[in-house]
Amino acid sequence: PPSILPKVANALTEEIESLLPALLPSQACFQTRENVRERVEALLPSRGPTTFPDGTRLRVFGSSANNFGNDAADLDMCVTFPDSSPLPAGSSGEMIEALASLLEANGMEDVVARPTARIPIVLFREPGTGLDCDISVENPLALRNTQLLHEYSRVDPRVRALAYIVKHWARARKINNASGGTLSSYAYILMVLHFLQTAAAAVPSTPDTPCYAPLVPNLQLLPPDWKGNEMDRREQMQGQRQLPRQLVTHPLEGMDVDTYFYTEPPSEEQGQPNGQRSLLREYAARNKASVGELLVAFFWYYSWEFDYRDLVLSVRLGGAMKKERKAEEDGWAVNSRLAIEDPFETWYNVTHFLKEGKHRHIRQEFARAYALCVEEAMGEGATEAGAEG
Ligand code: CTP
Ligand code: MG
Repeated sequence: PPSILPKVANALTEEIESLLPALLPSQACFQTRENVRERVEALLPSRGPTTFPDGTRLRVFGSSANNFGNDAADLDMCVTFPDSSPLPAGSSGEMIEALASLLEANGMEDVVARPTARIPIVLFREPGTGLDCDISVENPLALRNTQLLHEYSRVDPRVRALAYIVKHWARARKINNASGGTLSSYAYILMVLHFLQTAAAAVPSTPDTPCYAPLVPNLQLLPPDWKGNEMDRREQMQGQRQLPRQLVTHPLEGMDVDTYFYTEPPSEEQGQPNGQRSLLREYAARNKASVGELLVAFFWYYSWEFDYRDLVLSVRLGGAMKKERKAEEDGWAVNSRLAIEDPFETWYNVTHFLKEGKHRHIRQEFARAYALCVEEAMGEGATEAGAEG
């Protein structure tokens, strides 16, 4: 893409900037969601076949809490139990069925329970707001990956801008529907982050901008006392620094999963008047790419650069690993389709359900998007050439 970047990127950046305000959540979005959460949480202690212990909470995860959502998104919630009390009797499937009756009895609409799903879930619509909601039970890793995505969103405004545009594009092209066999929003955000950790380092790539700087670091490898330099990361990769661990017990597998990642206090750059300077913003600022340049390079990367056949995309590693290794370690099937490692549930392939036809279709959509950028660039080039005679 280097040769076409300057020709389309400015126009694209302008278009993205004019489109973004309509894609971002409204002021009222979060309050509306918080009201729904409170209303539903208040139902939990109700008597029913399952009684939830005092201190049972309803927490929000997914795009309503990861900084990549908007007014049209669903509201993903999960029930969490207080540490001190024993879990209520019954499996999470049974709890989901109990919740479904509770929700139906309290006026929620179109209540559908899926008690036997890998993560049992109940779906419903809240009648006052018309919001589509879902509730799962004890899903602490989803809460942590929501926080991880949120932390990445704070690194630089270009992270959010690119992610919103990519989600918008994927929806418009009808390739953002995991239950229909294409990709979840979560998968697209991980693809955006992987691109920003790796290929974005070479954007813009022209002889007069020799700086090679990723736009986001690997937050899972930065120590809590990170000084903002690359050195710590290298030391860390070579195993010279011990990172703290933040263990979360997996609700299904029962083992402890390390969910540590670097977090930064609110900074002045992020609109906090008394905040410190943001090391993450400083890190990102070394990459000078515009959002338009990043978008073209993103389409190019997933059209022609990423090695789908041999590599598993890994935000945890800030890169990728061989599929053969994943097959040996975690028993993953070796095929040439897109594979994305979950940042915490590292044995889980976020795109495990992707069939060959859908994989090919999604790759064609990337290539189509990139081809449109090239056409636009050549068109402009031709016009300029024409004007110059
Ligand atoms: N999730 C997960 N593993 C997956 C898919 C999803 O842990 N394979 C969790 C993530 O916490 C994710 C949340 O479920 O943020 C919701 O997933 P999804 O609906 O794909 O994404 P949202 O961010 O909620 O996007 P949307 O705006 O489309 O609702
Ligand atoms: Mg969602």
